[in-house]
Amino acid sequence: MPVDILVGTQWGDEGKGKLIDVLTRDVDMVVRFQGGNNAGHTVEIGTEKYVLHLVPSGIFRPGVSCIIGNGLVVDPVGLMQEMQALAARGLDISTIELSNKAHLIFAYHQAADALEEAALGENHKIGTTKRGIGPAYADKAGRTGIRGAQLQNLANLETLFRGQAEKYNRLFREAGATTLDIDAEWAKVREAAIYLAPFVRDTVVSVNRSIKAGKKILCEGAQGALLDIDHGTYPFVTSSNTTTGGACTGAGIAPKHVGTVWGVMKAYTTRVGEGPFPTELLDATGDELRNAGGEFGATTGRPRRCGWFDAVASSYSCMINGVDKLAITKLDVLDGLEELKICTSYEIDGTVTADMPVAADMLARVKPRYESMPGWKESTTEARSWDDLPENARKYLDRMAELVEAEVAIISVGPKREQTFWR
Ligand code: IMP
Repeated sequence: MPVDILVGTQWGDEGKGKLIDVLTRDVDMVVRFQGGNNAGHTVEIGTEKYVLHLVPSGIFRPGVSCIIGNGLVVDPVGLMQEMQALAARGLDISTIELSNKAHLIFAYHQAADALEEAALGENHKIGTTKRGIGPAYADKAGRTGIRGAQLQNLANLETLFRGQAEKYNRLFREAGATTLDIDAEWAKVREAAIYLAPFVRDTVVSVNRSIKAGKKILCEGAQGALLDIDHGTYPFVTSSNTTTGGACTGAGIAPKHVGTVWGVMKAYTTRVGEGPFPTELLDATGDELRNAGGEFGATTGRPRRCGWFDAVASSYSCMINGVDKLAITKLDVLDGLEELKICTSYEIDGTVTADMPVAADMLARVKPRYESMPGWKESTTEARSWDDLPENARKYLDRMAELVEAEVAIISVGPKREQTFWR
């Protein structure tokens, strides 16, 4: 099959960027299919560290096409700056293609995002990245969005941009919020449009041509399944389909071309932003995981909430994604812990279940039920094969896989490319 899909199986930050980088050794094209610069994919190569927000993680492999697909919402100014920064570090950015159907994010979306969060207040806010993701997808669904194709038509883009910006300014005025300086914002958009115009393509054609030519394609998911607009912990979700179905619509790929589904799964669980998190650890172990795992957002720098591996949530996620192979990341973060816990069922209002509840308020009420496993004392950071791992680490990985009904194929024991091995 020409197309593989890689998705996050938890609430994002599973280490997808690193895995994509490892898997791109054998592919011709990497396609982002949803989300925007709310994502922060970290890749460390040698002594260099990169954080990608919109550019696909295939950019580090010479000759690999990098597609920013139709399902994304793209901040043109942010994308221009990201591409310029990569070019300045010597990377070839000529392989990037931006979909003419991707929707554009402007300053008014970011301002609306911040305003909506403020209106929800401390107790109800989503905890968004404030990148304008929700408002941009709302415009797409409301059929008032502006798409990538307009970057190649400055006169049209200006008319559409000013029209929308004025509409948003009226809303901001009514809400008593600061309005945007439309001329100043247009100047930034204009500069980005001129820079990006040569990269705009019908990426659906590029992708399908590659499929026909027998090339190998990897779709790079952003965020995680539990943040999916349909299947996640709504309303504490992002505004796109982060699950495998999103790759078909967000890249223009027919399901019949899809082969392996890769699920990236952290050896424990994290969440950034608000929303229910049954296995969250609000104690010293949670702090230990955060510090050992460097669990601070790659996009916003926010501390991530940390907790035990949740097999209920993760098996639900593997089910809706159809995960075949697991890449388990950050195993090394558990090194030295005396005891490890895995949540295998929830108790909700006196009833025990292994099914993921749909409603966020219900999930907030669940009591996780754990099984306990012994930890290991040794460091795993130098492990380069399955046999190098301590026996208890192997047992822990096997138990994770058994519970989510998928196969462990890759293990990651640190941020570097070489700290990754196949089972
Ligand atoms: P938004 O995508 O900025 O609208 O944020 C909605 C929710 O998704 C918030 O809880 C964010 O913290 C979360 N989120 C968005 N992008 C990411 C990501 O790349 N990693 C982890 N969480 C994310």
